[in-house]
Amino acid sequence: MSDATITTKPPTASPALPVRLPPTPRVPTFLQGVGFSLSPKWTIAQIGRRHGDIFTMKTPISGRTVIVADPGLAKQVFMADTDAVGNIQPNLSRVLGPGSVFALDGTDHRRRRKLLTPPLHGKSIKNYERIFEEETLRETANWPEDQAFGTLEPMMRITLNAILRAVFGADGTHLDELRRIIPPWVTLGSRLFLLPMPSRTYGPYSPWGRLAVYRKRYDGLIGRLIDAVHADPNLDTRDDVLALLLRSTYEDGSTMSRQDIGDELLTLLAAGHETTAATMGWAFERISRHPDVLAQLAAEADTDGNEYRQATILEVQRSRTVIDFAGRHVYAPTFELGEWVIPQGYSILVAIAQVHQRSQDFPDPERFDPQRYIGQRPSTLAHIPFGGGTRRCVGATFASVEMDIVLRTVLRHFVIDATTAPAEKSHFRGVAHTPKKGGRIIAHRRR
Ligand code: HEM
Repeated sequence: MSDATITTKPPTASPALPVRLPPTPRVPTFLQGVGFSLSPKWTIAQIGRRHGDIFTMKTPISGRTVIVADPGLAKQVFMADTDAVGNIQPNLSRVLGPGSVFALDGTDHRRRRKLLTPPLHGKSIKNYERIFEEETLRETANWPEDQAFGTLEPMMRITLNAILRAVFGADGTHLDELRRIIPPWVTLGSRLFLLPMPSRTYGPYSPWGRLAVYRKRYDGLIGRLIDAVHADPNLDTRDDVLALLLRSTYEDGSTMSRQDIGDELLTLLAAGHETTAATMGWAFERISRHPDVLAQLAAEADTDGNEYRQATILEVQRSRTVIDFAGRHVYAPTFELGEWVIPQGYSILVAIAQVHQRSQDFPDPERFDPQRYIGQRPSTLAHIPFGGGTRRCVGATFASVEMDIVLRTVLRHFVIDATTAPAEKSHFRGVAHTPKKGGRIIAHRRR
């Protein structure tokens, strides 16, 4: 039995209703599990073709699960009372630690989100725009001309450096060690977090042992960084995330513990770099295959406008969704979802990529077409790359502004060649889907 099926909370006051589950595929449970493990997106699409936008299945990770690909029902899941529908387990907190927002639920989660939101929105974002541009210029300074190269790795470096600077402030040499350990740690953690946690680590060379070694190095480093910020006479005027978290207090006046700050900063570094880089890798893969889009983007980059660029990023996020699912868990005795009644202990997975492929909301969904959003914002029901409700991605604004500025900076300095090469296939890295060949392009510096 997976953790997901044994996570329970004290039952809420609402009485249980007679259970009415969505249809179950006739394929044996074992085959459902194998299909889901090998290719969740494909398996969901196949079952969905027969059973529609909501069905019940068993997955090796989330146990008994209702899959939802209907935007209205997805909204109901996202907006449900957090006592009735809460956090899914296992999730990334297994590797990020119990102080991560991914580990929290109910009131603890709401309190933490209140602390995390200001550093990642509004005035703070304005300060990060310069960082996004500088990091893009630094990374692209040595881009090869006239020869194909993958954009994914450069994007990973840009997004990691940007989130490191946003989180820790000044770009000092003390961040070099983090720059070295975070990428392999995230890669390893993404592969391990869904597996059952062993009771011991089996030595420093085993995968879990390597995670523990990274954690020790990180804890030492983060402790020194926190001490340095505390000792900084300019602490009151600093606007990096670490300083903002150290200064902020919960409603009752208490502050975050050192352990929680360490886990939360790691969460932002891990959640904030690969997802954004994966989307950017796809952006280059997509636009280089659409000369008309490329031409409009290039023309707009020389102006102050960004409507077309924003539309392009939205379309990349729809058509090449990097995070497939947003998960929840039923805590209430029963949870009413449309005409269905889901019992306690079930998981619910909103199939984001599937929602993005509905022809009712996106006519000719296979077509890559930024024009869909010109003059109109995408539906907040049907366009959900950042999930929704109280757990909607806390870094959504940060990521959206970052993607806009990185793309603008590249287009202002380079001409990207259009290509007739076949679309790149998708590669699953454990959390995010990336272009299999790394989003390869040929670019020339603008004279
Ligand atoms: C294009 C880039 C990104 C995508 C597609 C993305 C997507 C997502 C999704 C789908 C979720 C789950 C939402 C849900 O359950 O409803 C999520 C959660 C989260 N994301 Fe992002 N994300 C991105 C960038 C970022 C960035 C830049 C940060 C940090 C600066 C970040 C931090 C987080 C955190 C901390 C959570 C957990 C929120 C919670 O449980 O309350 N993400 N993200």
